[in-house]
Amino acid sequence: MIPMTELEYLKKYLPPERNLEEAIKRLENGEPVQYIIGETYFYNSLLKVNKDVLIPRPETEELVEKVVKLIKEYFPSNLSILDIGTGSGCIPIALKKEFQNANITACDISPQALKVAISNAKLNNVNINFQESNIFSNIDGKFDLIISNPPYIKEDEEIMPIVKNNEPHLALYAKDNGLYFYKEIIKESSKYLKSKSIIAFEIGEEEGSAIKDIANTYFPNAKIILEQDFRHLNRYIFIINE
Ligand SMILES: C[S@@+](CC[C@H](N)C(=O)[O-])C[C@H]1O[C@@H](n2cnc3c(N)ncnc32)[C@H](O)[C@@H]1O
Repeated sequence: MIPMTELEYLKKYLPPERNLEEAIKRLENGEPVQYIIGETYFYNSLLKVNKDVLIPRPETEELVEKVVKLIKEYFPSNLSILDIGTGSGCIPIALKKEFQNANITACDISPQALKVAISNAKLNNVNINFQESNIFSNIDGKFDLIISNPPYIKEDEEIMPIVKNNEPHLALYAKDNGLYFYKEIIKESSKYLKSKSIIAFEIGEEEGSAIKDIANTYFPNAKIILEQDFRHLNRYIFIINE
């Protein structure tokens, strides 16, 4: 199948009451088509998006796909999940639709992002406990699964202008060569994990071995798996405490 161009996508999905000419101008000015339309599809859900949230990516849909398989293998019932850095709420909404009995908490440091996530949960008719939190600062309880697609771009890394000029920098960049969130989450996570548990991360393609080393330091007995995305780039790390 020939992929749709952004212009075709815009014409197909822009609500009829919106001005097409104005929308095409925004596209020509380098704005992502999803922000212009104001919504996008992710895994099993339609989501509203604006400049307060990262546009959910296909790589993250693949993370959800992989995690759904792991959950089915490891946690047949009574599942509790924490999503750190929820943005649009794409991950917890997709997981709640897959596992209706799961107890899901999702946090973000950005109140503006949380507003979008809360309205997306309503739109998709799912119940998620959203918290404003700097990583674990406002989180209580123990979880079977901690999942996160944290900011992971190095502060001096060159990225595509369409991303840099439009998406929230709070969602993109991380100190410590892009490793800050992995270090913090892994270091603190044992307080928030049940003994049988999984941490699932989306990672920057060059960060695999550094994050594996950090995971090995804090979880020497865990099974640590590095997996690639559909572009054959190292993109996911799973830390499995059996
Ligand atoms: C890469 S985006 C991921 C958004 C969404 N989970 C997704 O996959 O599309 C990272 C998210 O982490 C949030 N974030 C940044 N710093 C944070 C912190 N210290 N604590 C919690 N969330 C944070 C950002 O606001 C952003 O929504």
